[in-house]
Amino acid sequence: MMKFTEGKAVITVPEFEKITSKSEVFYNPDMSYDRELSLIMFKASHKRKVCDAFSGSGIRAILYALEGAHVTANDRNPCALTSIKENAELNNVSLTVCNEDANLLLRRETFEVIDVDPFGSPVYYLDSVVNGLDYDSYLFVTATDVKALCGFAGKAALRKYGIKTVKTPFSKELGARVLVTAILREAAKYGIGFEVLLSYWKMHYIRVFMHTQHSKKAAFTCMNMVNPVYVCACGWFSSRTAEFCPYCGRETQCIASVYLGPLKSDRFLHDIAGHDLIDRVKRELDTPFYHDTHYLASFHGFQPPRVKDLIERLVMKGYQASPTVFCSTGVKSDAPFDEVVKTCFDLQTF
Ligand SMILES: C[S@@+](CC[C@H](N)C(=O)[O-])C[C@H]1O[C@@H](n2cnc3c(N)ncnc32)[C@H](O)[C@@H]1O
Repeated sequence: MMKFTEGKAVITVPEFEKITSKSEVFYNPDMSYDRELSLIMFKASHKRKVCDAFSGSGIRAILYALEGAHVTANDRNPCALTSIKENAELNNVSLTVCNEDANLLLRRETFEVIDVDPFGSPVYYLDSVVNGLDYDSYLFVTATDVKALCGFAGKAALRKYGIKTVKTPFSKELGARVLVTAILREAAKYGIGFEVLLSYWKMHYIRVFMHTQHSKKAAFTCMNMVNPVYVCACGWFSSRTAEFCPYCGRETQCIASVYLGPLKSDRFLHDIAGHDLIDRVKRELDTPFYHDTHYLASFHGFQPPRVKDLIERLVMKGYQASPTVFCSTGVKSDAPFDEVVKTCFDLQTF
């Protein structure tokens, strides 16, 4: 057995050399970043009844339980079940342990917080997940099928998420918005909307944290924020219909359609302090999509400006601008595209 310590939890899992979906019991130490962040979001929710629907070793369930949650830890894999029980004992926490398909569990019982961390896409579980959410509850979802989500596998995205995607320079944020759109669609038909609290991308996954709004009006408002986006190879993008790019005249491509509303809640994040990603998200401009300075530089033929310099210059010109957690070379701004490109060129002379 191998032993790992994560936060207040200690777990053991059967020996592995390389973690894969075929491992006897799945435990990925690299996901500790997400588990720590999820714990912070859980604590800020002030909820208690949690479902760790894809529990693996039980690490998430144990971390939540150590903070006082009443956790149902579920995994379809019988070996995982043994691990969850042993690890719960090791950490002296009591869990409700289930060994069934998450779709069945979430049809049977409702929860105040559901943590969805499957292999690949969560899309196969979303209808049940929505049914498993209590009134005024929280949903934390991971997706690792980033090719489909981020516009690199158009056919898979259309098949799984019902969204026409294209390759864009803002692929990571597109991925988060495609995932949110899929969740909103599943919930809207039941008269449930969501406030997106936090979303981010890291390594091989996208993660979104959402809070339910149980009303037909909220569901409608969310779906009303699902709209087409027109993009051009030059880096221009807009939610206004444009067959041809107003910047360079090329034919545009259309993403049809994605959620273009907020990807964070300043209200919810306000009281959470001391976490680097959350601090950065709080400072981020919440407009759809960013300009990737490296993409613009290579397309338009200039040296990439420093993100900090571009932001400073745009702000000096009276626009809003900020970095983004989705891309270290990206800048979000309310400046028109031609102004962003012009400012990049201006910065060449300094
Ligand atoms: C990515 S791992 C979960 C990792 C875990 N949440 C963590 O933080 O370490 C996905 C888990 O889902 C389980 N699983 C796959 N399909 C499932 C299903 N339909 N219902 C319940 N569990 C399932 C797998 O056995 C695996 O343990």
